[in-house]
Amino acid sequence: MKRGKKNSDAGDPVINSDTRTGSSELNAMMKPSLSSIKSMGLLLAVLMVASVMFSLSVVLRDPPSDDVVETDAASRVLQIRLHQAIESDGGLSEKKEQLGDFNVVPSFDKESCLSRYEASLYRKESPFKQSSYLDYRLQRYEDLHRRCGPFTTSYNLTLDKLKSGDGSDGEVSGCRYVIWLNSNGELGNRMLGLASAFLYALLTNRVLLVELGLDMADLFCEPFPNTSWFLPLEFPLNSLFNEQSLLRNSGNPMVAYRHVVRDSSDQQKLFFCEESQVLLETPWLILKADSFFLPSLFSVSSFKQELQKLFPEKETAFHFLGQYLFHPTNVVWGLITRYYHAYLARADQRIGIYIGVSESGNDQFQHSINQILACGTRHKLLPEVDKQRHLPSSQVLNRKSTAVFISSSSPGYFESIRDVYWENPTVMGEIISFHKPSHKDYQKTPRNMESKRAWAEIYLLSCSDVLVVTSSWYSLVEVAHGLGGLKPWVLNKAENGTAHEPYCVRARSIEPCSQASLFHGCKD
Ligand SMILES: *[C@@H]1O[C@H](CO)[C@@H](O)[C@H](O)[C@H]1NC(C)=O
Ligand SMILES: *[C@@H]1O[C@H](CO)[C@@H](O)[C@H](O)[C@H]1NC(C)=O
Ligand SMILES: *[C@@H]1O[C@H](CO)[C@@H](O)[C@H](O)[C@H]1NC(C)=O
Repeated sequence: MKRGKKNSDAGDPVINSDTRTGSSELNAMMKPSLSSIKSMGLLLAVLMVASVMFSLSVVLRDPPSDDVVETDAASRVLQIRLHQAIESDGGLSEKKEQLGDFNVVPSFDKESCLSRYEASLYRKESPFKQSSYLDYRLQRYEDLHRRCGPFTTSYNLTLDKLKSGDGSDGEVSGCRYVIWLNSNGELGNRMLGLASAFLYALLTNRVLLVELGLDMADLFCEPFPNTSWFLPLEFPLNSLFNEQSLLRNSGNPMVAYRHVVRDSSDQQKLFFCEESQVLLETPWLILKADSFFLPSLFSVSSFKQELQKLFPEKETAFHFLGQYLFHPTNVVWGLITRYYHAYLARADQRIGIYIGVSESGNDQFQHSINQILACGTRHKLLPEVDKQRHLPSSQVLNRKSTAVFISSSSPGYFESIRDVYWENPTVMGEIISFHKPSHKDYQKTPRNMESKRAWAEIYLLSCSDVLVVTSSWYSLVEVAHGLGGLKPWVLNKAENGTAHEPYCVRARSIEPCSQASLFHGCKD
C-alpha cells in the first residue's frame, strides 16, 4: 500500500534540487484528507486498545521470572506505545502506527534526520518482527547512553580516571565504554564492524563511542536521542596511546585494547572466549574491528541466553541493529530519494543487480552477462526477450513495468544488459528500464562524496524487491541485503565459459554470512 500510492501520481518525475522540497511533497502525500481523519481516529482508538491488550497479554503470559526485568519491560513497552498513540504529528505517527513501527523515539528533531521518519516509504516492510525484548533493551541502552554520553558528569569522571591511570574504585560513575576505532576503510566493512561493536556494547552494558574519522558524521545521523555517539575530538586517544603501546598493554588499568580483524592471530580470536570476557572489565575498551564479528558473539556462552531473547530469529540480528543504527544524513537521503523518485518509484517492480566482476577479457564478460540474463529469466525476475519475431510495440500483452538498478564497478555490464532489452522486444511487451547510479570515476570524485554515494547505493539496493548479485562476498552487498531483509539470488560461476543450470541460487539467509564462522578456538 505504501509504495503503490506513489504510482498513482501520474506526473513526470521531477528531480528536486534540494531535499526539503522532496520532503514536503512526501508530507503532502501523507497528510490525511478531512474525510479520512475520522477513520484515522477510529483506527487510532482501535490500535490503542489493541496495543493495551497485547501488552497486557505479554505481562500475563510471561509472569516475572528470575527478576523484575520482564514485567518492567512489558510496562515500558506499553508506556511507549500509549505515548506514541497519543502524540500525533500531522499524520506521520498514524502512518507509523499502521505500519506497526513502534521503534521511533519521539524525542528526535525530525528535520535533522528525515530518513529516520521516511525510510518506510522506500523500503519494503520487514518480513520479520522485532522482539519486544529488543525494543526494551534498546530503550535501556538509550537511557544509559544519555547518562554516560560525552561531557556528562559521569563521562568526565571516568575520563579523569583514565588520564590519571587510577584504577581504584574505578566504577564510581557506573559507566563503561567501548570505543570503536574508525579505519576509514571500505564503507560496507565499517558498517558490519560497527553494528557488531554495538551489539557487543549492548550485551556488556557498555556505551558505544565512535571515532569520527573522515566521514562518519557526513554519512550517519545520531542514532541515540539527546546525546551523541561520536567520540569527542578532545579525547586523549592519540596523545595517551598509540597502537603499539596499546597492543603491548599500556599498563593503564583503566583501558584495554582489542583488535578484531579477519586474519587476527589466535590470541585475538580468544576475544570471543568466556575467560577473556571475564578479564575485560576495564572501564575503557578500545576496539578495532572492521569485520562482521557479530555471529561470533553467539558463540560466547554467557551471551547466549540474552541473544536468544533479543533475536528469537538469529538471522535477523544485523537486520534489526542495522536498521536501528544506520540512518542516512539529510545530504545522503537527498541522493537516495531524488534517485528513487526519478528512476525507480513508478515501476511495478524494482530489481537490484550488483555486479562485482571486473571486465577482464571479452569471454568472461559475455559469460557473466549471459549468466545474469539466464538467471533473471529462469526465475521470472526479468522478462524474456523475443529475438525472432520482433513484435511491434503496440502489441503489449503485459503492462507490467520493471526498473532495474545496476550497481557495478564497470559500466560495460550495464550498457550490454540494457542494450539486449533495447534491441529486442520482450515476449509479453513488458516495459523494463535500466539505471546505474555511479561511474566510480573516483579520481574526479572527492573522497567525501565517494562514500556518500556508496552509502546511497547500498541503501537503494536495499530498497529492491529482488536482489541479484554475482557473489555475496562483497560487504556492500551484505549490508544491502541485511538492511533490506532480502535473500539475494547469487550467480553460479560460469564454468568453462558457458552459462549453465543452475544459473543462480537463492541465498539461505538475509544475514551477512561470508565471515560468519571465522572466529573459533576457545578452550571448551
Ligand atoms: C530530549 O530533549 C528535548 C529538548 O531538547 C526534550 O524535549 C525531550 O524531552 C528530551 N527527551 C528525553 C528522552 O530526554
Ligand atoms: C565535562 O567537561 C567538559 C570539558 O572538559 C565541560 O565543558 C563540561 O561542562 C563538563 N560536564 C559537566 C556535566 O560538568
Ligand atoms: C568443463 O571442462 C571440464 C574439463 O575440460 C569438464 O570435465 C567439465 O565437465 C566441463 N564442465 C561443463 C559444465 O561443461
